[in-house]
Amino acid sequence: MIRTDVVTDLLWGDNGKGKITHALLKNHKYDYCLKLAGSANAGHTIYHNGDKFVTHLLPAGIFFNVPSVIGRNCLIHTETFFNEIEVLQSQFNKHDDLKKIDIKSLVKIDTNTCIITDDHIAEDSKDTTIGSTKRGVGPASRDKYARTSVQVQNVSELKPFVIDFPQIIQNKKDVSILGEGAQGFYLDVNFGEYPYVTSTHCSLAAVPLNGIPISSISRIYGAIKIYSTYVGKKEFQGQDPRFDLIAEAGSEYGSTTGRRRQVNWLDMDKLIYSLKINDVTDLIISKIDIFRKLNIFSLIKDGEVFEFKNENSLKEFIVHDLKSSGCNSIKNIIFSESPYEI
Ligand code: IMP
Ligand code: MG
Repeated sequence: MIRTDVVTDLLWGDNGKGKITHALLKNHKYDYCLKLAGSANAGHTIYHNGDKFVTHLLPAGIFFNVPSVIGRNCLIHTETFFNEIEVLQSQFNKHDDLKKIDIKSLVKIDTNTCIITDDHIAEDSKDTTIGSTKRGVGPASRDKYARTSVQVQNVSELKPFVIDFPQIIQNKKDVSILGEGAQGFYLDVNFGEYPYVTSTHCSLAAVPLNGIPISSISRIYGAIKIYSTYVGKKEFQGQDPRFDLIAEAGSEYGSTTGRRRQVNWLDMDKLIYSLKINDVTDLIISKIDIFRKLNIFSLIKDGEVFEFKNENSLKEFIVHDLKSSGCNSIKNIIFSESPYEI
């Protein structure tokens, strides 16, 4: 039997998927950690026993010696892939309980994954319209769908890493998988505010697109923060001067590009739409500590800003609103207030 849990971002990315994936790997046994979408445009911040790490393409399974697969819904630039392994391995070597881990032997790439070329990156670097991370994802996706791309199975340097992941899991009697999402629902090319989107599928649809049977999904962990952030060209941050305070207190700078993320209130209606489409079972709302520190307790409902007296009344409103809005798949709502754990 195949059993799958998924971590997916419900808004515009950067909502703590790294932290959640890390916590799940620590507390449950998974046979594989599978990266579901994106490329080196993604950035996950992970704290492991006090040390900070940033991953892009590599799944977080590497922190727990769990075989870590880059799924075929992802894209891969060969040199960036090897660089990320090297950078993380040298960090691992300096860390007491990570130094025994050999990242190279844990990482696999699914055979039909398409590559990003240097030319794709050069082309993407000229983007001035949508605020790309300039990692080549747009041009590489265009070529993937134009059927002119190259798959990793035909790249000699990558051959030692290549496996047929869907086939492997079908052949096993029992296998458990943690699917690690990238980006976020409103950056998915089908759901975001086009063209301010990425070019891949980073909603829950990424699960079957990587060859994982839908019926194997057991828990769907949805990640958000108590406020919203977005990085890219469209205008997202409102006029309220408190957004700048939140950005500083919350260290809202991109882990891939270092760009300052735009901030706005959490929009309940956008959240509810995303929760329903992504069938979330466990909602994890991070950075409560930032609101507490600034004594700010606001959100948007029906297009209006609601101000709350304190943390409790804000939390109660959220729980009540989700219950009364027909988010029937939700079993747990967790308010998280630490970058280290959920
Ligand atoms: P691209 O995927 O690099 O072309 O970027 C498209 C849009 O998605 C831009 O607004 C990026 O800032 C945003 N984006 C891409 N990857 C991430 C991510 O992992 N987190 C947050 N935003 C992202
Ligand atoms: Mg990120």
